[in-house]
Amino acid sequence: MKKNPMFEKIVRCREDFPSLKEEINGHPLAYFDGPGGTQVPQTVIDAVSHYYYTSNANFHGNFITSRRTDEVLEGTRGKIARFLGADGMKNISYGHNMTTLNFSLSRAFGRYLLPGDEILITQLDHEANRGPWLALREKGIVVREVAILPDGTLDYNDFECKLNEKTRLVAMGYSSNVTGTINNVPLVREMTYKVGALLLVDAVHYAPHFPLDVNALGVDFLLCSAYKFYGPHVGILYSNGEILNRLPMYNLRTQLQHAPYCIETGTLNHAAIAGVNAAIDYIGSFGEGDSNRARIVDAMEKINLYEDALAKDIFKRLNELKNVTVLGPTDPGATKAPTISFDIKGVGPAEVCNYLGEQGICAWNGHFYGIRPTEIFGYLQKGGVTRVGVSVYNTSAEVDRLITAINTLASR
Ligand SMILES: Cc1ncc(COP(=O)(O)O)c(C=O)c1O
Repeated sequence: MKKNPMFEKIVRCREDFPSLKEEINGHPLAYFDGPGGTQVPQTVIDAVSHYYYTSNANFHGNFITSRRTDEVLEGTRGKIARFLGADGMKNISYGHNMTTLNFSLSRAFGRYLLPGDEILITQLDHEANRGPWLALREKGIVVREVAILPDGTLDYNDFECKLNEKTRLVAMGYSSNVTGTINNVPLVREMTYKVGALLLVDAVHYAPHFPLDVNALGVDFLLCSAYKFYGPHVGILYSNGEILNRLPMYNLRTQLQHAPYCIETGTLNHAAIAGVNAAIDYIGSFGEGDSNRARIVDAMEKINLYEDALAKDIFKRLNELKNVTVLGPTDPGATKAPTISFDIKGVGPAEVCNYLGEQGICAWNGHFYGIRPTEIFGYLQKGGVTRVGVSVYNTSAEVDRLITAINTLASR
């Protein structure tokens, strides 16, 4: 990649990640499993340990460490709101992970919807945004799924056909963690307005790579997970306005019964939440602007440009290799998350990842819980595919190593 002053800070950021200093068989670690979870910078590790040094307690108590814990929880809600473009902390709830939050939402919808009501999901989604909704079939709720086209994009005609006045909720992903496809959320929002359906978006794979603006999108719910954007394992739910207050959540009578708290159960992972705050600050450190939000958006735009250039290079070079098939959108200029899944004819994906792993290149094989798209693309029975994802700390030298290793396997 050509030297670009815009990326000066990004190209040096590998140093911020202590785990990337490791060597495997004499090779520096090249971590291409961001879609499974990114590595964390020192500042996040420090924030987690700082919490234990200074603030460890349960929340809402009348003593110093408990008050500090309240500040950590509420301050981080505000920080996440700025990351997502939400109005404020009242819109942000925490959970163990995205899947747990989505199941809590689906259980609440199960109490509120009637048999015959419809929910629309997609074939492209991660199972975390399918399973919780499919479970509602037990209650007589009709769950339909929108088809994927052979190029790994959603079939929007099918969307239109399957949406009707009985549709109460559309649950769709923003970006596929298998193909990197970006779904047309604004178009679907328009469609849902026409039939009065709610819109829930799984942005777990989108949030690490693009700026988000939940208000501009007009979504009712949006979920993401901090461990995909340089933070600890914390699930995040954005809910619009009063919507969470209208859902009959399952919780304890001791729980605060209003948004954003009513979906939270038991004690949260306070130290990890302190780390989420630091992760968003870390992202913001790549950006410029007059406000925290402006710096985050600027940083996400820069991160996106940097990652996209590396990913497009991988995409182009993989497509040039004999015996390699790349899944998903074929247009090299398509707007995609920097995530590429591929198959090498005659070499199983587990073998590919073992081979890469011996050279210090970390990549995942299988279906990545995107089990439905992997099945539809015809790779599930064959053990799935190999996936590489680009994160802010990846470099073009690492991409060269990756392509050389894949080329060796593909030309055996
Ligand atoms: C697109 C997508 N949605 C949902 C999830 C589930 O997230 P969590 O692990 O926070 O439950 C993942 C995790 O890989 C994902 O990639």
